Amino acid sequence: MKSLQVNNCGIIELNPLKDGRDGVLAVAECYKQIPFEIRRVYYIYNLNDTEALRGMHAHKHNRQVIFCINGSFTLTLDDGVRQQEVFLDRPNLGIYMDVRLWHSMRDFSQNCILLVLASDLYDADDYIRDYNEFKKIVHDFV
Ligand code: TYD
Repeated sequence: MKSLQVNNCGIIELNPLKDGRDGVLAVAECYKQIPFEIRRVYYIYNLNDTEALRGMHAHKHNRQVIFCINGSFTLTLDDGVRQQEVFLDRPNLGIYMDVRLWHSMRDFSQNCILLVLASDLYDADDYIRDYNEFKKIVHDFV
């Protein structure tokens, strides 16, 4: 994967554990591979619409790591200044998404499953769903 040119994000690579038996084991522990305490796990599956677009928001406080644990999809990251597309197709490769990072997911392969580890419990008020508001928050933060 190309290095990330966008702020407020990072690549997280889980060490694939192989011990001679069939299968690969990937482990994510808080404050080791994951830079926060994991308070919530959610996953998205049954993505059958090739035009599907998910995400399209940023968070004020919640931090997340997103994995593609089956299939592939394209993640678009936007820190308010730069944008970058990341193709995720390896179950052990995640993207850390800090606060104030606009993100969207699309181009899901068949049987694609997204797994997200989140720092906070679900809170609708933590979402920034308006792109202009996001740009203003980023601008005011600097
Ligand atoms: P949303 O975060 O918009 O999904 P995506 O990031 O894939 O675009 O959430 C979709 C719906 O699910 C929305 O009505 C809120 C609800 N939801 C919860 O109730 N709890 C959660 O932890 C999440 C992530 C979403």
